[in-house]
Amino acid sequence: MGHMKAMVMVICCLTQAIITHQTGQFIGASMSFTIINGTNGFEVQLDVISGWVLGLGPCGINCSRASINSNTKGTREEVLHKQGDSHFFGNWTVEFTINNIYYAHFLDINRVVYSSLNESVLDVSDKACWEQVRTVVRYPMIPNATYMDIAFEGLSWRNLSMQGGYAQWHIQMKFTPQIRSDTGKPNNSPQTFNKPFYRLHLDKDNYIRVATTDPDGDHILCAISEYIEAGVLSILPNITVTKDCIITIPSHRSLGYHNGSMGAVAITVRDLNVYGETAGGRPEAFSTIGVQFLVQFLDNISEPIFIFPTPEGNHKFNIYLGTTWKIDVYAEPISPALINHFSCLGRQHEDVKIIYVKSTPVLNHVNVKMATMTWTPNHTDVGNHILCVGVEDSYG
Ligand SMILES: *[C@@H]1O[C@H](CO)[C@@H](O)[C@H](O)[C@H]1NC(C)=O
Ligand SMILES: *[C@@H]1O[C@H](CO)[C@@H](O)[C@H](O)[C@H]1NC(C)=O
Ligand SMILES: *[C@@H]1O[C@H](CO)[C@@H](O)[C@H](O)[C@H]1NC(C)=O
Ligand SMILES: *[C@@H]1O[C@H](CO)[C@@H](O)[C@H](O)[C@H]1NC(C)=O
Ligand SMILES: *[C@@H]1O[C@H](CO)[C@@H](O)[C@H](O)[C@H]1NC(C)=O
Ligand SMILES: *[C@@H]1O[C@H](CO)[C@@H](O)[C@H](O)[C@H]1NC(C)=O
Ligand SMILES: *[C@@H]1O[C@H](CO)[C@@H](O)[C@H](O)[C@H]1NC(C)=O
Ligand SMILES: *[C@@H]1O[C@H](CO)[C@@H](O)[C@H](O)[C@H]1NC(C)=O
Ligand SMILES: *[C@@H]1O[C@H](CO)[C@@H](O)[C@H](O)[C@H]1NC(C)=O
Ligand SMILES: *[C@@H]1O[C@H](CO)[C@@H](O)[C@H](O)[C@H]1NC(C)=O
Repeated sequence: MGHMKAMVMVICCLTQAIITHQTGQFIGASMSFTIINGTNGFEVQLDVISGWVLGLGPCGINCSRASINSNTKGTREEVLHKQGDSHFFGNWTVEFTINNIYYAHFLDINRVVYSSLNESVLDVSDKACWEQVRTVVRYPMIPNATYMDIAFEGLSWRNLSMQGGYAQWHIQMKFTPQIRSDTGKPNNSPQTFNKPFYRLHLDKDNYIRVATTDPDGDHILCAISEYIEAGVLSILPNITVTKDCIITIPSHRSLGYHNGSMGAVAITVRDLNVYGETAGGRPEAFSTIGVQFLVQFLDNISEPIFIFPTPEGNHKFNIYLGTTWKIDVYAEPISPALINHFSCLGRQHEDVKIIYVKSTPVLNHVNVKMATMTWTPNHTDVGNHILCVGVEDSYG
């Protein structure tokens, strides 16, 4: 009997409306991969979770909360047709070495990648105007490759006032495809999950935690993306990232942050064997993946907050098959708003049920609502899962 872990991360929803624009549709993505032994030999299965301005992404012009969990097959085609650009949702390229000899530079692999595409809608925020989709694509493993670098890039980010406006997006994933001597199998990359868009306070130290897990049980190391890994994105002033993926942005006006500023955060996540960091220098990783998202700084944010006794973010739970995971979360709106709804999301459309929502004043906080969520995993769910709990108030 397998055992499984689920991590719960607490993130609030957003109220800031995003103005739509034909260019400027991208608001971030994260990549991960597993190696599968398919009918045509080993293949790299890429899992991309991307955020788009609502109505400009693959979920289509009529995208709404009702689209969650639906397949984008029809809507993606419609947008591509309407835009008259089959690369509107990005270009895929690969670089690789064979027996350590450099072979190809930005080789176009769109045809192969897009022919295997399977995509579904993970989340939509009607009020904050974004959609998040999960795209699964495959690319055959290159025989004898000793290194592969798969990149996804296109036009363009939403207007990033802190990083040169409609910047091109570029996100990549690098790995060594050989069989690992410790596991006897090819490596799988770390996996992450986060919202595509965060509203942050101006003149304050803001913390964002990116939830991470690794299917091989490897040690995970996060860092700010630099050089080509960040594409054309400059690094936001004084931003720091800890090894365990806690991002701090001290958004002081003296550093160039202003009310309404928009910026993109790009981090790189690596997996290392459990012996991890060797003495000196950057440790050699099995793989590196990119995680990027949009942030906006505002002088007045009035969004609901989770309050005690909700478990803290990145809480790890072990759940055994045949049992039900249950969690109570408590949220308080900023007066005079009211809590509208709760959500619980996973990368794999985990079937989490919200069985109960009620008003539960806690001490002198009268508008608190509590939700009870449950999840009963079955044998197809064995492995690591990341679940995110969200809450929206009457302002969105
Ligand atoms: C991959 O699958 C083939 C048959 O489908 C099998 O013969 C082979 O041993 C598998 N390779 C590994 C490393 O599991
Ligand atoms: C979007 O919704 C409008 C109004 O309901 C409808 O006329 C239109 O056909 C829809 N478009 C697509 C692409 O689904
Ligand atoms: C697409 O993904 C869904 C959900 O993950 C899965 O149920 C379905 O079988 C996949 N379809 C194909 C053609 O792989
Ligand atoms: C892979 O490398 C082995 C040993 O170096 C060689 O025998 C084989 O022909 C190579 N295969 C390909 C497809 O390059
Ligand atoms: C995608 O690649 C094509 C062909 O190389 C290029 O013309 C196009 O500008 C690229 N599109 C994006 C969005 O990067
Ligand atoms: C993009 O944002 C900058 C800074 O906020 C603004 O000056 C510029 O007009 C915006 N561009 C467009 C096309 O809206
Ligand atoms: C920003 O970073 C610089 C250099 O590390 C440091 O001197 C300064 O105190 C930092 N400012 C803030 C507001 O954190
Ligand atoms: C701050 O920016 C937001 C969004 O652009 C705007 O709605 C708000 O009025 C601004 N606040 C002030 C004090 O200018
Ligand atoms: C902040 O926003 C709330 C709700 O929109 C409003 O009631 C409050 O007056 C605002 N505070 C400031 C300082 O602008
Ligand atoms: C296992 O759960 C998944 C969703 O989490 C569901 O799609 C699938 O049908 C379930 N399988 C069985 C055997 O109950």
